[in-house]
Amino acid sequence: MLADADHLPHTLLEENAYAKGSPRYGGLELADALEEIVALHDASNIAAVIVEPVAGSGGVIPPPAGYLKRLRELCDKHDILLVFDEVITGFGRTGNAFAAQTFDVQPDIMNLAKALTNGTIPMGVVIADRTIYETFMSSAEFDSQIEFPHGYTYSAHPVACAAALAALDVYERDDMWQKSAELSKHLERAVHELRDEPYVTDIRNYGLAAAVQLEGIAGEPGKRPLQATIKCWEKELYVRCGGDTLQLAPPFISTPEEIESMCGKIRETLREI
Ligand SMILES: Cc1ncc(COP(=O)(O)O)c(C=O)c1O
Repeated sequence: MLADADHLPHTLLEENAYAKGSPRYGGLELADALEEIVALHDASNIAAVIVEPVAGSGGVIPPPAGYLKRLRELCDKHDILLVFDEVITGFGRTGNAFAAQTFDVQPDIMNLAKALTNGTIPMGVVIADRTIYETFMSSAEFDSQIEFPHGYTYSAHPVACAAALAALDVYERDDMWQKSAELSKHLERAVHELRDEPYVTDIRNYGLAAAVQLEGIAGEPGKRPLQATIKCWEKELYVRCGGDTLQLAPPFISTPEEIESMCGKIRETLREI
């Protein structure tokens, strides 16, 4: 089925439908929308721009070519901090440790979670650029502090730290991010083969993540993917649904055969619902 703009989330450009990886069109124009926000509010009232390098639960929306670099330029121009939410993309999902490396854009702050401990123990991390750290540490208010402080009940919890260190060891030992990069080629091929299946209006992928956009049921957004998710579950496949998308983020230890089988079950499901 051809992409129809009515079936895409409103921020997506029709000409980018079925793009593999980062889509080609609109990156600079979409980033330039920040200029309008700056003109409206004035840069002095904007502390930071927060962005997921690849929007995840919004439906796996990769940034169009040039988008993140342009955001970086505009943030530098207006002295606004750029924050990458790498909760999903961090630790290998895009084929490098961080999406910041994959897209060659350095944020001022990064927040991380999920794969930090391989999801085994709750833990979140915020990383700040040295200039931010030094700004805090050199201010008179911080004279009595020995470190850049943030105090939560479970800050630096030893069990979470142990889980994070163990996960990082395994990622390094098993070259896990390289595995993720290699597997992403299989995912890209297999998921785009669903293009002509019923209800499919767009397919997006980046790294080891992909989304299949389905034609929504009028007046009942989200219902069709939910029906598909339930069918997939009956086939012993868990697929996340959100909005009118099916969202896939297989484990890095998956095999190409498992990726094939996952897409095969989605194909069967789309033909059955
Ligand atoms: C991109 C992104 N940022 C932030 C969060 C929230 O993270 P947490 O549940 O660790 O607070 C999530 C949760 O799924 C997420 O996907």
